[in-house]
Amino acid sequence: MRSAKDFFAPLAVGAPAPVREVPARPSRAIHFFDPSNPKMAAKVPDMVGTVDVLLGNLEDAVKADKKVEAREGLVRIGQDVDFGPTQLWTRINSLDSPWALDDLTTLVPAIGHKLDVVMVPKVQGAEDIHYVDRLLAQLEAKAGLERPILVHAILETARGVANVEEICGASPRMQGLSLGPADLAADRRMKTTRVGGGHPGYLVRQDPPKGEDGTAQIEAQRATYQQDLWHYTVARMVDACAAHGIYPYYGPFGDITDVVACEDQFRNAFLLGCVGTWSLHPKQIAIANRVFSPSVEDIRHARRVVAAMGDGTGAVMLDGKMEDDASLKQCLVMVDLAEQLAAVDPELKKQYDAIDAEPQGA
Ligand code: GLV
Ligand code: MG
Repeated sequence: MRSAKDFFAPLAVGAPAPVREVPARPSRAIHFFDPSNPKMAAKVPDMVGTVDVLLGNLEDAVKADKKVEAREGLVRIGQDVDFGPTQLWTRINSLDSPWALDDLTTLVPAIGHKLDVVMVPKVQGAEDIHYVDRLLAQLEAKAGLERPILVHAILETARGVANVEEICGASPRMQGLSLGPADLAADRRMKTTRVGGGHPGYLVRQDPPKGEDGTAQIEAQRATYQQDLWHYTVARMVDACAAHGIYPYYGPFGDITDVVACEDQFRNAFLLGCVGTWSLHPKQIAIANRVFSPSVEDIRHARRVVAAMGDGTGAVMLDGKMEDDASLKQCLVMVDLAEQLAAVDPELKKQYDAIDAEPQGA
């Protein structure tokens, strides 16, 4: 075990000092693009400023014979494009593949100064993070980078879920976790065939009515309620991330046409504590930006509570509801998030600013 005193020492001589706090940068939508696809690659410069994170994907969904093209395409994009306020992330290939080492040894020297976060798929335990941590430090030192590249793990193996707390705490580089519902379903041997989202078979059913003789009428019409297959994993992920001061994200929602269910799934994740999600198609960016930004109604209410609570202690009644220190803390989470998002999203800023202009008592 490494001493806590050494935790913030660089893992290679000359590597940048690890961060002590993960910067809270807006990352409502992490938009995936395939750098080996010329049409997608050509759209990247125009997407800068329209999405919080652009992620060059090198792993699944990139064909095996396109892996080198994708890596080289990402290098070109990283070198040529000015990303301005938009973060640049990549998803490297899994650590047990023949490509992961070349992904890191190529990307860090070439575009390490532009890369904010490396997403590592199929993470099983702290040992995977330790491997990437040391390798990144060596490559950063060699490249003379001045700030450390952060690491994001995808939670998509049963062992990864079992080890989620140690993964989150494995390195000061850990920026966050995403749910990987497709790989996780396969690894757990779940009996689904979808990429994220719900399943109509995963439900609970209302109790049967009783007949005149008191027997249960099990064939009668009964309401059913579909349950969220991902609730348990997202909730575990949120707790592990919060405990370690890093950020949880939902992952892919594969049914691009079902924008309604996609919004529901994203909102569940937002309400449970996630800060963002993946976007697999430009139309999912708008959904993510809407869902992962606090609503004007929530901010209006949160600001009223903050104003009414004065020094933040005690209790007040607002609209017949009790507000106290704990509800104030929830409101402050919303207000802080709104401020961070307003700083990068002028349209949202206008909406939040308009609340101040509303007549008092409205
Ligand atoms: C994402 O990588 C997933 O497997 O769902
Ligand atoms: Mg996966």
